[in-house]
Amino acid sequence: MRIRLLLAAVAALAAGGAVAQVVTHDFPVQAIMATGVNPGALAFWAGGNDPPEDETKAQADLRWAEALKGAQTLQVKGRELMAHSRPGRWNEFAQMLVDGAVEGEAAAKARNAEKAFEIGGGAIYNACNGCHKTYIPSPTRLP
Ligand code: HEC
Repeated sequence: MRIRLLLAAVAALAAGGAVAQVVTHDFPVQAIMATGVNPGALAFWAGGNDPPEDETKAQADLRWAEALKGAQTLQVKGRELMAHSRPGRWNEFAQMLVDGAVEGEAAAKARNAEKAFEIGGGAIYNACNGCHKTYIPSPTRLP
């Protein structure tokens, strides 16, 4: 249930790419997303989501270690995004990502799934969603 909730936004975004449309990409930002922000968020969200069934202690350790690394990656990438700033609320969303990820790091260190879920679906998700709604280039349909 939780997994479905937090992956919905990413899936919706990915689906858009499959349609034959012309979009002008910001390649550096796209790379930050594809190689840093998105995998970092998925790893962090896995901390707050329900654990997979029959998860062993070793698997749980690994999942939380990845969630922690994910939260740290989101801080680094959030700051990188500010180096690619744009007019408007860009920096506000990037800062929201950094702040959420700082709190997320603490939650992952404490292995507090409730808190991780709250932060993942709160500040972190709102940063992704807010920035995407404002800045993702709207596709221009071919005539
Ligand atoms: C400060 C703004 C900002 C924030 C915050 C942000 N994004 Fe993005 N994201 C963008 C922009 C702009 C693009 C489109 C880049 C392009 O292709 O030109 C994008 C594209 C993407 C893509 C598509 C990458 C590709 O390969 O085409 C994914 C996936 C993505 N974001 C995931 C996330 C997730 C998950 C979060 C939150 C954890 C997030 N983003 C937070 C601005 C942001």
